[in-house]
Amino acid sequence: MTHQAEYIKEYPTEISSVLSGGYHHVLTREWQNERTLTKSMFIYPLFMTDDDDAETEIPSLPNQKRWGVNKIVPFVASLVAKGLRSVILFGVPLADGVKDPVGTAADDPSGPVIRTIHILKANFPDLFIMCDVCLCEYTSHGHCGILREDGSIRREITVRRLAAVAVNYAKAGAHAVAPSDMVDGRVRAIKQGLLDNDLAHSTMVMSYSAKFAGNLYGPFRDAACSSPGQGDRKAYQLPPGGRGLARRALERDLAEGADAIIVKPSTFYLDIVREAAEICRNIPIATYQVSGEFAMLHAAAEKGVCDLKGIAFEAAMGSLRAGANLLISYFTPEFLEWLDDN
Ligand code: PBG
Ligand code: ZN
Repeated sequence: MTHQAEYIKEYPTEISSVLSGGYHHVLTREWQNERTLTKSMFIYPLFMTDDDDAETEIPSLPNQKRWGVNKIVPFVASLVAKGLRSVILFGVPLADGVKDPVGTAADDPSGPVIRTIHILKANFPDLFIMCDVCLCEYTSHGHCGILREDGSIRREITVRRLAAVAVNYAKAGAHAVAPSDMVDGRVRAIKQGLLDNDLAHSTMVMSYSAKFAGNLYGPFRDAACSSPGQGDRKAYQLPPGGRGLARRALERDLAEGADAIIVKPSTFYLDIVREAAEICRNIPIATYQVSGEFAMLHAAAEKGVCDLKGIAFEAAMGSLRAGANLLISYFTPEFLEWLDDN
């Protein structure tokens, strides 16, 4: 008897304990995925500003720019050629005096979002165009709703305003509206507004249902110039420990007619993604890998802590494994290339 055989005899291997036979090959490793990353899962955020020729780097948000309408078509064309299917638009008005307490500029027909909808629709008939719906980029105080004297949100007038903005984006041709304000009741108001305007059948309402307050939105607020002047968003975005609140928000938005939901941020909240996949099992679930998460991964890669492509895939797989089937990600341009060669 050889030495090895004796060893095996002495320490018999349980037949069920060997897993590695199931994933020793590159193909069988792929077969382990319950969901496989595809290009069509990616939604790319675009920051559209009111200087038509802008193509401005955003220092805290690596590789992302603020775009003017005159510059956006060639850029989007290069991504569509690589397989881009969907974008989400954010408006960044920078002209003096354009912001006011009620966010009038949000649905200005000559503002950057509505002009971009028209331009993208004309140039890319197959591109799915989503619009973030919020007021913080357009209000003088930088909050996501209309305020009382004491700084709290006036709910009813805010949701009416948000619904009007969403309807105007839909009228301009947006395929989806995505309210990110976190003000109670806005999904119902938006859905009703779309119904009243005969747009509900052709507009997806993708609600940021579980959106947590925290430290991961800094680079976005630099990009969108949307930091609140005073106070913070803790009275409307969810507290990081609020798992029960997130469940209630998901159930509420589902009941109010959301066609899809977003959990945001992504990596720190994957338990909530799993909850969402269970509570909202009949509709698509997106995660938003937000600006701070994205910037952290870049910073870590620059420090040599991790490989950027590797960690980007790992983060994306985390969202998929938790139950997401859509990814809103600043890595979208990279994934459109990476998914060709992996
Ligand atoms: C607007 C909005 C924000 C984000 C998406 N929509 C900022 C905020 O709530 O302050 C964050 C996205 C990101 O950080 O990448 N309400
Ligand atoms: Zn906002």
